[in-house]
Amino acid sequence: MKRFETRNAHFDRLVNTPGLKWLGQNTNHIPAHPAVIDAMVACARDEQFHVYAPPAGLEALRAGIVADVGLPAQAALVSDGAVASLYHVCHTLLRAGDEFITTDPTWNWPMAFARSVGATVTQIPIYGAEYNYRLDPARLAAAITPRTKMIYIVDPNNPLGVACTKAEIEEVAKIARTAGAWLVHDCTYRDFAHEHHLAASIYPERTITIYSFSKWLGLAGLRVGAIIADPEVLEQLAAAPPNNLGSSILSQRAALAGLAIKAEWFPQVLDITRRNQAMIYEALPRVEGLSMPVYPSNGNFIVIECSASGVQPEALAAAYGERGIMIRQGAYHTPNFGDRFVKVSTSVPQVWVEEFLELLPAMMERARGINLDTPLF
Ligand SMILES: Cc1ncc(COP(=O)(O)O)c(C=O)c1O
Repeated sequence: MKRFETRNAHFDRLVNTPGLKWLGQNTNHIPAHPAVIDAMVACARDEQFHVYAPPAGLEALRAGIVADVGLPAQAALVSDGAVASLYHVCHTLLRAGDEFITTDPTWNWPMAFARSVGATVTQIPIYGAEYNYRLDPARLAAAITPRTKMIYIVDPNNPLGVACTKAEIEEVAKIARTAGAWLVHDCTYRDFAHEHHLAASIYPERTITIYSFSKWLGLAGLRVGAIIADPEVLEQLAAAPPNNLGSSILSQRAALAGLAIKAEWFPQVLDITRRNQAMIYEALPRVEGLSMPVYPSNGNFIVIECSASGVQPEALAAAYGERGIMIRQGAYHTPNFGDRFVKVSTSVPQVWVEEFLELLPAMMERARGINLDTPLF
């Protein structure tokens, strides 16, 4: 069987496993606000799905997204999720021979998109105490070449949970401007950050802000997000988008309802997420060889460093998999540092995290005896 078939079949099994505890995808499993469900039910009941949505998205949603991030001079193009936004941006703005720069770890798909159009990819390592687990802008400046066409910053970083300070993002924006490069600021996890600063407010002309409804609102399976950019840039991106017949009307109705209840609902999600993080942080010192290099995390996930324990991340993920709990092995994010960590999502019911922690000593033991031919997603 082809590798993607094996991975897909494995993932299909997970999706169809009743009661699986999703602690590996940074998805949000806090019960949705009733208004979001009602919006979808109304959309289905009134059979609104017979029509195509407007190509750039429902106007109310486009305005809502721009207002949500607070970039009034910019415009939004609704997409089938942040990953589709990134695909579209890479395919429209990159050419063969261009250079795409990002961190290691980063979110991997945009690197694949860049390579698929013939661009080269440069990664700046940031995993490790020697880097303080973050991108020092001076190291970005040193990596720039005449071919640098796009800088991709995941902020907050997935998987590390670090977020750029105001000074750092100002510096990154300055470097991008000097290089004449596109700055793709992936803000998928922005709402979970303790502090977050938009590059677009510093370098509006060529920053592309990537927006997602998957994480803060928990709509991962509905596929809705956006590209936010200067109206001129958006004109270019709107010329041949992959979803030029509009994104799902059902998803857009849900997203719109989500924006309306965000102020009331999201603080509870954040509170649960941060309490779950704290619980893990407090429990880890009781397990030999485990630590949390970044705390607090600015995402809805945390990284657990396990290299000192001698346990392989894949084995630990497989051990949890046997108990119906999905966590993410580091290699999903980075071949260079993937043997050092696992990632655990925290925007989940507290009882899931309690179970994760209760099982941890036993899972470490189990992991030591695991034969690693178990497929992982
Ligand atoms: C950094 C980052 N960007 C984009 C995405 C994809 O988001 P969406 O579900 O909106 O496509 C993810 C999903 O994990 C992510 O971690």
